[in-house]
Amino acid sequence: MNHVFLVGAGPGDPELLTVKALRVLQNADAVLYDSLVDPRILDLAPPHARRIDVGKRCGRHSASQADICRLLVEEARTGDKIVRLKGGDPMIFGRATEEMNALRAHGIGFTVVPGITAATAAAASLECSLTRRAVARSLHFLTGHGAEGGLPAHDWVSLTKSGGTLVVYMGSHTLGGLAAHFIEAGMPTDMPAVAVENASLLQQRTIHGTIASLPGAVEAAACGGPVLIMIGEALGDGAVVQVGEGQEELLFVNKK
Ligand SMILES: C[S@@+](CC[C@H](N)C(=O)[O-])C[C@H]1O[C@@H](n2cnc3c(N)ncnc32)[C@H](O)[C@@H]1O
Repeated sequence: MNHVFLVGAGPGDPELLTVKALRVLQNADAVLYDSLVDPRILDLAPPHARRIDVGKRCGRHSASQADICRLLVEEARTGDKIVRLKGGDPMIFGRATEEMNALRAHGIGFTVVPGITAATAAAASLECSLTRRAVARSLHFLTGHGAEGGLPAHDWVSLTKSGGTLVVYMGSHTLGGLAAHFIEAGMPTDMPAVAVENASLLQQRTIHGTIASLPGAVEAAACGGPVLIMIGEALGDGAVVQVGEGQEELLFVNKK
């Protein structure tokens, strides 16, 4: 039976793979992987498994999405156990829809194995709850990458008014424009903002700032790895404290 596993490889640290992802990988005959997948994770596939680099990294596509879909279908037709390994979670900015549609169109069954997305890995390393009670009412995952590398057409005012935590994937190169839009939409210039490069890996770097200062700081850091941007009061140093019987207050300690 032709069957493909679309597997989330997580943010990089092999220990953050799910048990199911590990089992599927250990049984693979071929692994089609993106460039954000850590080599130590590829090493978990059996020695005989063919490792096929489809080199997809935002902004640097070495194979087009159509080519990847074609290859995936071809590989699945061999009858081998095929794993399509994607960074983070396949369903979060992972172009999973295109690949699932290609498989469906050819009558090939598939299973999606979720992975830890960059946002939750970054939040864990910062020891910061993205939905901190009384501070963040919602959580928004956004792309920072629009058509032809420009800015996406977000509803900047709604996002700013949401009072939620904004997590921007693929936003390091457009951060200046993103910040300008948020500030123009009414976001306070001192809104906490953090960039995390290589979340979960030993080479992780974290840059703290505000929505006004972060673009310059990220540019100066000349990041080479994947970068996640997180914006919102939840990223500040605020803490909900008990101030009396059933009464809570939000205190900010060393707010930048
Ligand atoms: C094409 S998206 C893929 C997202 C992935 N499917 C996920 O769930 O994390 C690539 C973007 O994810 C973010 N990203 C992925 N891995 C990361 C990591 N280890 N550290 C920081 N950001 C990461 C970066 O914003 C990067 O540009």
